Amino acid sequence: MRKSVFILKGNIIYSKNRTGLEICEHGYLVCEDGFVKGVYQTLPFRLGGNPVCDYGDCLIVPGLTDLHTHAPQYAFRGYGMDMELLEWLEKNTFPEEARYREAEYAEKAYRIFTAGLQKSAVTRACIFATVHREAALLLMDMLEKSGLVTFVGKVNMDRNCPDDIREGTEESAKETKKWIRDVIGRKYANTAPILTPRFIPSCSDELLEKLGALAKEYRLPVQSHLSENTDEVKWVKELCPWASCYADAYDRFGLFGTESPAVMAHCVYSGENEIQRMKENGVFVAHCPESNMNVSSGIAPVRRFLDEGIRVGLGSDIAAGTTENLFAAMAHAIRASKLRWRIQDGTLKPLTVEEVFHMATKGGGSFFGKVGSFEPGYEFDAVVLDDRRLASPRLPDVRSRLERMIFLADEREVRAKFVRGEEVCSQNLKC
Ligand code: GUN
Ligand code: FE
Repeated sequence: MRKSVFILKGNIIYSKNRTGLEICEHGYLVCEDGFVKGVYQTLPFRLGGNPVCDYGDCLIVPGLTDLHTHAPQYAFRGYGMDMELLEWLEKNTFPEEARYREAEYAEKAYRIFTAGLQKSAVTRACIFATVHREAALLLMDMLEKSGLVTFVGKVNMDRNCPDDIREGTEESAKETKKWIRDVIGRKYANTAPILTPRFIPSCSDELLEKLGALAKEYRLPVQSHLSENTDEVKWVKELCPWASCYADAYDRFGLFGTESPAVMAHCVYSGENEIQRMKENGVFVAHCPESNMNVSSGIAPVRRFLDEGIRVGLGSDIAAGTTENLFAAMAHAIRASKLRWRIQDGTLKPLTVEEVFHMATKGGGSFFGKVGSFEPGYEFDAVVLDDRRLASPRLPDVRSRLERMIFLADEREVRAKFVRGEEVCSQNLKC
């Protein structure tokens, strides 16, 4: 059968490693059957005759991955930012999430969330829903239609939360199994289930044991929160006196990268033991700098993780973070690392443009496989950025234009977006 090939032309930028950028000015990015064939300064003769979409002087970058966000919290972004994590969960988050038992509210709210994500430069995301199975399925149906590729989790909670959102231990495991079976039945192409114990304070050992068995049975990845806030870390010590560190409370039940891939958000207070466990188990870190500042959690030692070879991506962590704009997350990661270096620990140098770009593309993308780069064989996720809104009397080079995007861009710069070789359409995309 004839292969399906198309070509994008523009200023192509991508990462192969965390310290460098590959730049091909006015080059050709070739997609073959949904995968990157290659990046070329001059189009090879054999590829002539295929459609070329010429984006002029635009920048073309890999799609961005949001490695940690909460769909139901999109509705209260920007409210109640004067609280720390545990109070914020009690006063803001749990009451809002309880509303998702009503299909009508969930439908309205998830439509707004999905539209926001669709307009952004994000092509992949790991998403928390709520405890409600039906609402999680509704969200997955919408995301499937959006063309984005996502992991979505029905949240598990059987303790330390209000009655109207707390599940019984048996009920939580049963509903999760039913949800997994429903998802399998729907045969989604782009939407996959991920086990989502909210965090240790809201999941009993019995529940975690049951979820560990499900992870094994269905080979499902896991997402959760880890060592985010000092009061939370203290509480976990009280709840699990047997655990050698917070991570151990997941690891004991096969929920920390041994049975299946795991991504943990925050890791602000991960000590030596925990860092070694993350490394040994190949656990991904979702660094969420804006969230960590908004709810006064602290600043994660990201350079330490990178030096250890731990894979790190970026998360918006809506609604503790305010925006799905991953360019903002990149800028926040740089700013937070500078403050950490200046105020807290001079041994860990600030993060660079190259490093945060790598985290937002190939770093987080690798949770999804060969994603987040334009090296041959990678899945073809690409975003075309038109930076003409940001007028300047100068003619900056391509690297400087990328740097400017990191600090200034939002969805208005997104001119086109491709996921797995398919163009994603939304209101502001001109397709
Ligand atoms: N820890 C447990 N639940 C949450 C949540 O919804 N947001 C954040 N930032 N941390 C959490
Ligand atoms: Fe979170």
